[in-house]
Amino acid sequence: MQQGIFITGSDTDVGKTFVGVCIAKQLSQKNINVIPRKPVESGCIRQNNELIPPDANALRTAANYPGPLSDVCPYRFEPAISPSRAAQLANTRLTTAQLVTICQQGSDKSFLLVEGAGGFYSPLTENGLNADLAAALKLPVLLVVEDKLGALSQALLHVEAIARRGLPVAGVVLNALSNDQNQQMDNVADLRKYLDCPVFSIPYQPEIDFELPDELITSLITAACTKTSSVSVIG
Ligand SMILES: Nc1ncnc2c1ncn2[C@@H]1O[C@H](COP(=O)(O)OP(=O)(O)OP(=O)(O)O)[C@@H](O)[C@H]1O
Ligand SMILES: [Mg+2]
Repeated sequence: MQQGIFITGSDTDVGKTFVGVCIAKQLSQKNINVIPRKPVESGCIRQNNELIPPDANALRTAANYPGPLSDVCPYRFEPAISPSRAAQLANTRLTTAQLVTICQQGSDKSFLLVEGAGGFYSPLTENGLNADLAAALKLPVLLVVEDKLGALSQALLHVEAIARRGLPVAGVVLNALSNDQNQQMDNVADLRKYLDCPVFSIPYQPEIDFELPDELITSLITAACTKTSSVSVIG
């Protein structure tokens, strides 16, 4: 069975690609062969006659993936709306089974890194949510949540939803999207009281070459290799 992780978020624009790019780079540096997949992307940029998917492009570059961009993201839509609606407007059939096939093409000895679109319960295809793709792929889920007031509830709700699909939570990343947080807040410490999976924080980091803690990469490799138990919320 394919090893890897499914990156989801508590919302759109919370840093799934930012985190995914770091993971792809750092796994590649460890000589781990990464297969990046963003099987459907909306909000693509039209260049000449082609739609360029920025997330898929960034993941492909970070992973040093030798195959074409169409392997990473064959389903591309221009409007920045949910992929399922964008596909409907473009009269394109888009099913969860199609995306499963795209994600599973490639060596099963590689690390499959899949980024969803939007949040865990965002519609992705005509017959499924992000949650349904993750469940069909049976991958551990890495949850990215914006590190702000309210993040604890977001994280706990998502962990419960992921567990409901019978999937393990590979970790929760609390990602700072600005540096104007209240210094008295400590969401990592608070969240760790409720979760028995790895919880990490990422500072606001506008520099290009940001590295995730090696501990996080190691725990993702471990999670990808042991996909059996789902995480429970304590208390
Ligand atoms: N820790 C961080 N420090 C600084 N900027 C960040 C950080 N995390 C994310 N960003 C920036 O925030 C924006 C949104 O991040 P990103 O595109 O990764 O979100 P996403 O969840 O993948 O969005 P989408 O739902 O569109 O796929 C990007 O401009 C990204 O560079
Ligand atoms: Mg993204």
